[in-house]
Amino acid sequence: MKKELSAIDAKYEAQKIAFGPMYFQAVVALRDLGILEFISSHRKGVTIEKIVDEMDVSEYGINLLIEAAEILGVLDVEANVVRISKVGFFLLKDEMTRVNVNFMNDVCYLGAKAMTDSIKNGKPEGLKVLGDWPTIYQGLSILPEPAKTSWFEFDHYYSDGAFPDALKIVFRTHPGTIFDIGGNTGKWSFACCDYDNDVKIKILDLPVQLNVARKNAEERGLADRIDFHAIDLLDTAQKIPQGADVIWMSQFLDCFSKKQIISILKNAHQASSQHTRLYILEPFFDNQNYPAAHFSLVATSLYFTIMANGNSKMYRIEVMKELVREAGFEVIETYPLIGDSYHTILECMKSAQ
Ligand SMILES: C[S@@+](CC[C@H](N)C(=O)[O-])C[C@H]1O[C@@H](n2cnc3c(N)ncnc32)[C@H](O)[C@@H]1O
Repeated sequence: MKKELSAIDAKYEAQKIAFGPMYFQAVVALRDLGILEFISSHRKGVTIEKIVDEMDVSEYGINLLIEAAEILGVLDVEANVVRISKVGFFLLKDEMTRVNVNFMNDVCYLGAKAMTDSIKNGKPEGLKVLGDWPTIYQGLSILPEPAKTSWFEFDHYYSDGAFPDALKIVFRTHPGTIFDIGGNTGKWSFACCDYDNDVKIKILDLPVQLNVARKNAEERGLADRIDFHAIDLLDTAQKIPQGADVIWMSQFLDCFSKKQIISILKNAHQASSQHTRLYILEPFFDNQNYPAAHFSLVATSLYFTIMANGNSKMYRIEVMKELVREAGFEVIETYPLIGDSYHTILECMKSAQ
């Protein structure tokens, strides 16, 4: 049972929410001004005077940020000596934390103010701060910097960790042709080509993304093994072609509402033979080992609301399985939390009629 908070503690928790955005920016400043790194390099701690002497930041700024970081538990301060805490260490050195902080700061922060309007209107009203597109997907490859780098680092950080185990699963049946739906920059397709010398790939995505994927494939000398098919899967008139042994959807279906997911899966269904395997790779928020992962995935849903498309989210595993069944597929195997990642693979085939 959850322990009841005292009124004093509850009021403190409420203030953490009230001032949260500013504390977040204070930590970003502490990191980006190099103060956190400087403190971290003094393993036994460093006095505030020494930080002021050696850093090119005002005494005012240094004191301000250290006071904020101490409140957050990022720094420990005792008798004027400052040390980095374990939390501070993760902010500085942990790749997942770095990628999440940059994604929040560079992609989401300004648009987050439009949360209420985004929910009211079912549109990503925060996206205007980055560009004039109906969804972020029309703009991904042409986002302004640093949003572009931070978006791709965030996306790749999560999917890359899943690929080594996912390759073993997908290639167990020796597919000759894989359709990579929402293939983005081509990372999964290139990994498939490296893994199996004979496999042929078709990347299906919006035209703006295919330009980048095609260029990347040419640079890797894979143009003869990878084919490109421009498609907008929200347009039900545009059909996925037939001929795939495997249809692969990685971190793709979370970009859509439940209704859109059923329609996209029905499109995959019409493209499938009785032998085609559909693999869905997703980080389901209710299927995680660590609270930090659950916390991050629920926050990622909020990004979809304000910046991506206003109607999609991270899903619970059973919700996705139900949508798969509604579209006429059967989940024949579930591979939970594969490899060094947060993902589950659902292996699906057409249900027997
Ligand atoms: C979150 S990214 C996933 C990229 C990659 N599969 C991965 O696992 O890292 C989603 C991809 O879906 C594509 N996408 C979004 N909306 C689409 C649509 N309506 N039709 C086709 N592709 C779409 C985006 O362009 C993007 O490449």
